[in-house]
Amino acid sequence: MSTLVNKSEFPIFKNRKLTYLDSASTSQKPKVVLDAMRNVYENSNANVHRALYDLGSESTELYESSRELIANFINANSSKEIIFTSGATASINLLAYSIGSQLKEDDEVLISHMEHHANIVPWQQLVKRTGIKLKYLPLTGSGEIDLSKSSELITAKTKIVSLTHMSNVLGTINPIKEIAKLTKMVGAIFIVDGAQSVSHMPVNVQDLECDFLAFSGHKMLGPTGVGILWGKFELLNNLDPFLSGGEMIEKVTLEESTWNEVPYKFEAGTPNYVQAIGLGAAVKFLSKIGMENVHNYEKELTSYAIEKLQSIPNLNIHGSPKNRGSVISFNIEKIHPQDLAQFLNEDNICIRVGHHCAQPLLETLNETSTARASFYIYNDFSDIDKLVDSIKSTISYF
Ligand code: ALA
Repeated sequence: MSTLVNKSEFPIFKNRKLTYLDSASTSQKPKVVLDAMRNVYENSNANVHRALYDLGSESTELYESSRELIANFINANSSKEIIFTSGATASINLLAYSIGSQLKEDDEVLISHMEHHANIVPWQQLVKRTGIKLKYLPLTGSGEIDLSKSSELITAKTKIVSLTHMSNVLGTINPIKEIAKLTKMVGAIFIVDGAQSVSHMPVNVQDLECDFLAFSGHKMLGPTGVGILWGKFELLNNLDPFLSGGEMIEKVTLEESTWNEVPYKFEAGTPNYVQAIGLGAAVKFLSKIGMENVHNYEKELTSYAIEKLQSIPNLNIHGSPKNRGSVISFNIEKIHPQDLAQFLNEDNICIRVGHHCAQPLLETLNETSTARASFYIYNDFSDIDKLVDSIKSTISYF
């Protein structure tokens, strides 16, 4: 099986001997993304939306065309619906603050036991500020969202449902469209945390029928420090800004201020335009491959890995084998994940171990730490073979 891309397009694989199986944490970057950012700094660098000279127009144009590329990538109605943030965490914080300020005591926000801390803690902070109630959808024994009690949990009191599209621990891909329908029935806002999905499968916001989508650039071949909040224009238009300062205003007097139009109302200060342009290059790169191809390729990798890992005695894979993305968490009897990671590191194999910023989920698994291998377009079967061989030799050492 050959990779979907040539590994040599990613400088790190030329510079380091690596079996990189931690893309759910952050992805490696192709040269085109690094070049796009270097090109801005070397040839077009000026602050955007302010500089009335050619250089400024060039960087503004690059920044805004990146917004356009990202809008097309997720099938947004318009690039005005794309807000550049610093990452998925910042996107969800923006929502928890801005929509949250419209909620009243007794209103409810519903999340699930499967969420990343980024989709738990901002809502817990909102509980402290406003007294709203935070409720959780439970999971089935096989690690899927349990919708059997949804009518008790999704009610007229529910104002926001915020769920991950794909679990960063179990790889479970959630039935977002089904949940969107339940959410609409009670008139609640539906937020999807796409941090793990947008990089690995086609994500079409019209098809998902959600109201907001949050995701990060660095997990999808882009640079760190940039992420996206997509929202329906009308909803964004009705929200108060989160961060305030320059760029997000229309007029400032000594007494008060009025806001710039969406999306700029949510982009206070000098935007992270170089990273945004890098993310645009990443989206172009992924679009050329085709997200359906990415998804199918990773399905093959994941099935192969599950089959191989399952053949190792005393290795327990968490989550359901169905509807899963390219993330596999597991534990091996009597070997602490941290020890495993250290042994794999000796073979230049990178996996993540720990609670994966999802402690409530780990609690439902009865674990405090798991080992997690995650794949992307630059991995192939031989990477998985190396992982399996190295796990076997670790087991024989213990
Ligand atoms: N959210 C990232 C992960 O799951 C960092 O590893």
